[in-house]
Amino acid sequence: MTTELLKINKDSLKKAAELIKQGQIVAFPTETVYGLGADVFNENAVKSIFVAKGRPDDNPLIVHVAKKEDIKKVAREIPLSAQLLIDKFMPGPITIVLPKRKEIPDCVTGNMDTVGIRIPEHIGAREFIEACGCPIPAPSANSSGKPSPTSAMHVFDDLEGKIPLILDGGDCDKGVESTVISLCTKTPLLLRPGVITYEMLTDVLGKVDIHPSVLNDGLVDKAASPGMKYKHYSPKARVIIVDAPVDTACRFYDFALKNNKKPIIIWKEEELENVLNRKCISLYKNSDTLIAAKNLFNILRQVDKDGFDTVFITSVPTSDAGLSVMNRMLRASAFTVIDKNTDENKLKTILQLN
Ligand code: TXA
Ligand code: MG
Repeated sequence: MTTELLKINKDSLKKAAELIKQGQIVAFPTETVYGLGADVFNENAVKSIFVAKGRPDDNPLIVHVAKKEDIKKVAREIPLSAQLLIDKFMPGPITIVLPKRKEIPDCVTGNMDTVGIRIPEHIGAREFIEACGCPIPAPSANSSGKPSPTSAMHVFDDLEGKIPLILDGGDCDKGVESTVISLCTKTPLLLRPGVITYEMLTDVLGKVDIHPSVLNDGLVDKAASPGMKYKHYSPKARVIIVDAPVDTACRFYDFALKNNKKPIIIWKEEELENVLNRKCISLYKNSDTLIAAKNLFNILRQVDKDGFDTVFITSVPTSDAGLSVMNRMLRASAFTVIDKNTDENKLKTILQLN
């Protein structure tokens, strides 16, 4: 199959909607990351999303709708807590998990009785859903396990030959996937942090629990958050989080280089002058973790393209959008965090030198 890449406009939207109606799958831009959509009522089309991505079929898809009135076509009930979030944050980069209507096929939600629902803020995304005339289940449009795509070229790199069309809406504004919050639990439960932050959610809802998998590995209750049990966001390079000042990252960099690795440091812009002639990229500046969120996946893909095999990346504070950045970085690094006390033996193991 040839994969067409078309700028999003009236003509390409018409073509995309026709493909969806024929049971095909199409990649489209949103304000968070690119999505890979199908007709929610066409089970074969939904299944081909899982095949194209290489995604385990028990990992539920988020169902996208264009307007608030359409939420009740997907959800069986809308509790007050959900209504508060809808009023405050939708359209926007948030997904609410609610009881599922039986009309929504089980293959969409990995056989769960709940469904994640999102109204994208991106106008092109909403025009696409409107043109299709049905709710659109869509995961991020990357190969399973890779960093989510924040540009049409990222989608092309992963899915060329596997899907007929990518609608190109330029670079994604937010850069990390939507906040996912379940309203099916007694206390609202944050399953995946995003740029609608924990602090913003508690302002509206009062108490919100944070699922233990947000910042931890291990066999915590994974049933509530199926997506979190899989390998995520991994470039080919080994990603290592450095929870220490940049001179410590430089020391580890030099050790990796001496051992024939091709390392790179990803750090705060203000501290890059101390990196001297070592290879480096700026993750963010002015302590603005929204910038880190926007840059992270693009940088992780770029280091692979540039042939680096070892990434020393700064930890970020876990307040506000920083929580979403640490959540993605921890997964990209398989929860590998080192600090100034990490010795060379430990580093050797991490770098697989022995
Ligand atoms: O920003 C986004 O959310 C993007 C764009 C395309 O909208 N989509 C996205 O989808 O990131 P995906 O499939 O890559 O991630 C969906 C996450 C997974 O971790 C999944 O387990 C969780 O949401 N999820 C979906 N439905 C759920 C449900 N009913 N209960 C619990 N978690 C759910
Ligand atoms: Mg994804």
